[in-house]
Amino acid sequence: MTKKYLLAIESSCDETSVAIISDDNKLQSNVVASQVLSHRRFGGVVPEVASRHHVEQITLCMEEALVDAGITVDQLSAVAVTEGPGLVGALLIGVSAAKAFAWAHDLPLVPVNHMAGHIYAASLKAPLEFPLMALLVSGGHTELVYMKEHGEYEIIGETRDDAAGEAYDKVGRVLGLAYPSGKEIDELAHVGEDTFDFPRGMIKEVNFDFSFSGLKSSFINTVHNAEQKGETLIKENLAASFQASVIDVLVSKALRACQEYNVKQLVLAGGVAANKGLRKALTKALAEELPKVELIVPDFHLCGDNAGMIAAAGLIEKEKGSRADWDLNAQPGLSL
Ligand code: KG4
Ligand code: ZN
Repeated sequence: MTKKYLLAIESSCDETSVAIISDDNKLQSNVVASQVLSHRRFGGVVPEVASRHHVEQITLCMEEALVDAGITVDQLSAVAVTEGPGLVGALLIGVSAAKAFAWAHDLPLVPVNHMAGHIYAASLKAPLEFPLMALLVSGGHTELVYMKEHGEYEIIGETRDDAAGEAYDKVGRVLGLAYPSGKEIDELAHVGEDTFDFPRGMIKEVNFDFSFSGLKSSFINTVHNAEQKGETLIKENLAASFQASVIDVLVSKALRACQEYNVKQLVLAGGVAANKGLRKALTKALAEELPKVELIVPDFHLCGDNAGMIAAAGLIEKEKGSRADWDLNAQPGLSL
């Protein structure tokens, strides 16, 4: 039997990405054109700038993904695309490109939820076993998702205000760090100490929701008060204290969710899953408290936005028979 491949497109935020995956879930290529430098001087993603970059990059990424994978268009069996959530203009570029390409080559079009993509990045590391719990931590979302089987998602808890990644980026700005600042705070935290005792939002509440705005305010007030008094605080200790609070809450709630739902695996996913402190803390806590639960964390390059993860989720959606019509539209507020 000839091998068949799926082409996947991701353009929900500030990365234009196209990937090719084989039907047996092996990633063949994953081209990511990051726009991060264009947005950095604005301190965050500017939607209009993002859309313009996607338009410029999308067809180049599609050609490069096919070349990298060493396949031709006639070896494709489907096209998958992120339909949401994300920035509407950015999503529209990917959706339009996917529709045009699928229509021109007579291929089925498979819509994919970006957050499902983040979870399925883990399937490229190890086979998913159910039931599982996913801790999804990105720039726009912080959620605990329970899955009984492939393609079925139940959000059991989520942030009531800022997402974890958003909190990283906001406190990073106060520290004068470049956007996005999660990685740099992680690095500073490794050489600092938890000396500030910031609040652990909602850690004691018996639900699976999160809140990071109290931590963010406490951090900002601490820095501003010190500035007014002419004091200089140690950046590394501020970073370590902030990170310790985020990790304590995420680890505590994720472990309780695993226990209560009696899951086989815990998937850590989303941009913040690249955090070395979080990966280490979760590995240690699970080994000590729930050794039967297997932790799956995608490789670093698959934690942030990329089409490889959309390709893996796309294969599952394709098998389920999920198909989009030619009137597929961007769904900026799509939930799992
Ligand atoms: O999943 P993602 O690439 O985009 C969204 O879908 O939002 O996540 C981006 C977020 C940013 O807020 C960024 O600061 C954060 O992930 N991030 C990190 C790390 N690397 C990226 N946060 C903490 N530690 C990191 N190492
Ligand atoms: Zn994302």
